[in-house]
Amino acid sequence: MPLVAANWKMNPSNLDDALDLVRGVMSVARGQAQNVEVAIFPPFPWLLSVSDLIIESGVKLGAQNVFWEMKGAYTGEVSPPMLKAICQWVIVGHSERRLYLAETDEMIAKKTAAALSAELGVIMCVGELADHYDAGMSEQIVSGQVRAGLASVAADDSARLVIAYEPVWAIGSGRNADPEFAYKTMRLIRRIVGEMIGAGAARKVRILYGGSVKASNVQQYVELPLCDGVLVGGASLDAEEFVKIVKTTSEVYGHR
Ligand code: PGA
Repeated sequence: MPLVAANWKMNPSNLDDALDLVRGVMSVARGQAQNVEVAIFPPFPWLLSVSDLIIESGVKLGAQNVFWEMKGAYTGEVSPPMLKAICQWVIVGHSERRLYLAETDEMIAKKTAAALSAELGVIMCVGELADHYDAGMSEQIVSGQVRAGLASVAADDSARLVIAYEPVWAIGSGRNADPEFAYKTMRLIRRIVGEMIGAGAARKVRILYGGSVKASNVQQYVELPLCDGVLVGGASLDAEEFVKIVKTTSEVYGHR
């Protein structure tokens, strides 16, 4: 089943707006898009309230980050079991965390393994910077990130693992990737995952595209044979726009 994930980042700035946004998203999850998994990733302080609201709606809940230890003296961090109590999903290795919080491939590998071991679903993000893209190094960078990030992942984890290909130059820039280029990179990701955990298990790993996805361009990605959905940032903050993205995804997969 395709996954449409809403990464709200550090938005909206108050709980009332967050809950309004959730209500808008829930309207589509009820009935109109049964063949799509919808997951929302609010900021940490809104998780509990959002969890209460979406209970039994079919919409899944996720966090935008997690720590790799299960408990202990790690000020400011949140462990996988703490999240597991209210979430089904977590995003790991988003490029904004790689950039502003200096997250390394090694940290991302530890977070991925820890979250999977706590039975959370993990969306691990990979993607090259604009300079790398311009220098024709996208494949090299992305394959390095995938290999490093999956260092401790086992074949058994494949059904709960999602890799989001998000070219950093496409995030929040309005400059979404050419679908043919995205397809080639996603094909590379699938091949590397196969090398690491076996081709059979790799088929269960879902691969998403992310980066300036909107209602007006989502179709060209979800139509790609290897694309299992989208990770949406800015456009997920507008319920109507996000609902359109979910509906288009549902229609495309309904015809497959
Ligand atoms: P964007 O963000 O859709 O605003 O480009 C995507 C992301 O960062 O996950």
